[in-house]
Amino acid sequence: MDPAEDKQWSTIKTTFPILPPKSKRETTTTSRLTLRPLKNNSHDLAGLHAFRTDEKVMHWSHQGVVDADLKETCTQFFIPPLNSEIMVYAICLKSTGEFIGYASLSCHPRRLGWPEVRFGIKSDHWGQGYATEFLEGFLDIWRRLPREVVVTRVPVGTVYGDREIKDECLAGIPTYDNVACHRVLEKSGFEKRVDWEVSNYRREKKERLFGWVMTKSNAQLLEEQLSALRIT
Ligand SMILES: CC(C)(COP(=O)(O)OP(=O)(O)OC[C@H]1O[C@@H](n2cnc3c(N)ncnc32)[C@H](O)[C@@H]1OP(=O)(O)O)[C@@H](O)C(=O)NCCC(=O)NCCS
Repeated sequence: MDPAEDKQWSTIKTTFPILPPKSKRETTTTSRLTLRPLKNNSHDLAGLHAFRTDEKVMHWSHQGVVDADLKETCTQFFIPPLNSEIMVYAICLKSTGEFIGYASLSCHPRRLGWPEVRFGIKSDHWGQGYATEFLEGFLDIWRRLPREVVVTRVPVGTVYGDREIKDECLAGIPTYDNVACHRVLEKSGFEKRVDWEVSNYRREKKERLFGWVMTKSNAQLLEEQLSALRIT
């Protein structure tokens, strides 16, 4: 079922991250990786094209097939509104700088009413724990972003917290059969809360999606805001 048709939805007040302008986005490192904002240059375009022409990766993507050519990657690369509503990151090996993956955090569109994280690792690097390591670093970036209070409509199964402002969630939405992605989300502390069926990208078949969510308690947010007030 399309979640939009599901009666079990609730309109709530919660918080969303405020995505900073490109120049202010954080770069971070983990033990083996550098996570940095994707740059508008030929190096990153080549890295992204190699990623988006990896059949094993693109099989699991929303698009389902590889980019036809560099122009198509370039069009995807500049999807508006890249700056305000999506943060796109390159996942690179810390030792060599090699571009091995791509990730995004978007506040729109919201299939579950929550911001979404998407990520992928080039297939020649699968099975070495890179996605799990990436997600740990990326969740730290997500937690540190500034917040604003918003009203959103979400499945009741993803409502956490007993205050007026409910706890914020971040969603990861793989297809039901993307076992590696389920495992990465599970290992990173996400909980599987909803599943539903949608037409795929080319509308040729139905596919089942699983909605996993990670929560960010607003108790923590209120603490942060209070300590910021105490400092100033
Ligand atoms: C999902 C993806 C990012 C995982 O990358 P990765 O670097 O190989 O992930 P990790 O090594 O950190 O962890 C993968 C986990 O899945 C498990 N796994 C992988 N394939 C599996 C399978 N077919 N059956 C069961 N478990 C599987 C691994 O064993 C590992 O779990 P473990 O540590 O408990 O052994 C990668 O496969 C990918 O890019 N896929 C295409 C894009 C995609 O699906 N993105 C996710 C969209 S939400």
